[in-house]
Amino acid sequence: MSNIFRAVLFITLLITSTLSKAEISVIIADKMISVENAKIITKPLIIIEDGVISAVGTQSDISIPEDANIIDLSGHTILPGLMDMHVHLTSDASVHGYKRLQRDTSRAAITGVMKAERTLMAGFTTVRNVGAPNYADIALRDAINEGDVKGPRMFVSGPSIGVTGGHCDNNLLPFEYGVKSEGVADGPWAVRTKVRQNIKYGADVIKFCATGGVLSKGTKVGAQQFSFEEMKALIDEAHLRGLTVAAHAHGTDGIKTAIKAGVDSIEHGSFLDKEAIKLAKKHGTYLSMDIYVTEYILGEGEKAGILEESLAKERTVGKRQRESFSNALKAGVNMVFGSDAGVYPHGDNAKQLSRMVQFGMSPMQAIQSATLEPAKLLKKSDTLGSIQTGKAADIIAVKGDPIEDISLLETVGFVMKEGVVYLNKS
Ligand code: ARG
Repeated sequence: MSNIFRAVLFITLLITSTLSKAEISVIIADKMISVENAKIITKPLIIIEDGVISAVGTQSDISIPEDANIIDLSGHTILPGLMDMHVHLTSDASVHGYKRLQRDTSRAAITGVMKAERTLMAGFTTVRNVGAPNYADIALRDAINEGDVKGPRMFVSGPSIGVTGGHCDNNLLPFEYGVKSEGVADGPWAVRTKVRQNIKYGADVIKFCATGGVLSKGTKVGAQQFSFEEMKALIDEAHLRGLTVAAHAHGTDGIKTAIKAGVDSIEHGSFLDKEAIKLAKKHGTYLSMDIYVTEYILGEGEKAGILEESLAKERTVGKRQRESFSNALKAGVNMVFGSDAGVYPHGDNAKQLSRMVQFGMSPMQAIQSATLEPAKLLKKSDTLGSIQTGKAADIIAVKGDPIEDISLLETVGFVMKEGVVYLNKS
């Protein structure tokens, strides 16, 4: 009996000692993109302990620790996990317009589970989810954090806040149906209450609509929604509580008003004029411009249920937005990668990178806009956005060199998030 007891004790101790020993992984590859100093490192070596990067260098200057699990990514270039600052994981790109009315929040959450995994496998280890029905995004973020579901690290907004009948409302049905989106609020105190409510239920960031939009029924894409007073109240309330604010804004006046009211990022930013660009520069406001999605909307939108009036709006917005992108870039405005995936298929996020290069970015800048810059916008540069000691081990790899061909990032071969390998085709 006592022998059995001793044997059990021995095995228990053995198991606990192996479990408590730090799990050490080592990644070696051909090249590494050092986004923080815009350099390429050849023959890199990275040591990862308990999900955190503990050393970064080259294969000639760091020796591999004993017992380390070696991940050999020869033939590959490694870079930080990509970060998309504008997604809607709970939305299905093949279901738009009236078709979407048949999808309730529970279904949206199930969509989110599928799309979160797809997004992670496409190399996006962090996303900012800006707008979801009835807090489905909060449930999804928590399920990912607790390990129930595979997906990127999520920063979420809960329901987007907007005026009655605006882009963040749902205007598809007539009055007698009484449909109103969760985030609808009019007046400075009403918007403050919505901010407080979103924080109460777990939001990390606040999203509001400062102008009309393309995909909403009956809104003028260029017209401002919310007065300066309302925007100021909303943004002040969020900042008071330590949250950043993202504003959906296509139209020039709405963009300028949101920037003056202190918003952290402008989403879409389609109709930028010289003054808007100057204001963004002066305030350090980020632009998150979804310049790929126009191709999907105009190509596949009708089939997916997008209304004709939205397609008509897109025909002018898409082109102007790309010009605005080039102008803002030349002026040196802060820019982050934001795709609006959910309007177009999740997992195709990276298609936007080649368009960013087409419209003026260097491949390095495009990669920085999807790594280093989002970390700054999220105020998470201490742990995210680059491959540096002390940061979360969010690392991806592609075959070949994405600086020579940015479209290689559309097919990643390796994905690690916080030290856990989710994909390895090497
Ligand atoms: N969610 C956005 C809206 O409805 C999509 C805009 C897409 N078009 C574009 N060119 N970025 O307004």
